[in-house]
Amino acid sequence: MIWALLLSCASGPQDSDSALRDTADCPTDPTLSWQSWGHGFFLTYCNSCHAAESQTRHGAPPGVDFDSPELVRDQISRVRVRVLEQGDMPLGGGVSEDDLLLLERYLCALEGS
Ligand code: HEC
Repeated sequence: MIWALLLSCASGPQDSDSALRDTADCPTDPTLSWQSWGHGFFLTYCNSCHAAESQTRHGAPPGVDFDSPELVRDQISRVRVRVLEQGDMPLGGGVSEDDLLLLERYLCALEGS
């Protein structure tokens, strides 16, 4: 990917440029697709409350559903904030550090796809 090449040349004092750092902080992993990883993650941790067909939403807002990669992408910034930054989703917690790392990479891959 071209941006990755550009970034690899951009280290050094200029690195404080926040736009560059944001992109550099978004490591993708092409092996993390919806099929190979995303679907299982959202089913396991989120979709008991956040699926269109869920009968047990526990107050999850209507429309905040993660049944497909498109739906996740539509809400990607809120997923980042709630799971990766604030850590208050899923309700009750329970996502391992490993899965959090993978989620970060999965979201970056999804965004670039
Ligand atoms: C046990 C039920 C439950 C589970 C499991 C759950 N949520 Fe939620 N979620 C809620 C409820 C209730 C709200 C509304 C209250 C709130 O925003 O805190 C909500 C709101 C949200 C919102 C919208 C609010 C916003 O900040 O924009 C997002 C995004 C979200 N959840 C993401 C997730 C993700 C991603 C997972 C899985 C990693 C997850 N949730 C797991 C119950 C749940």
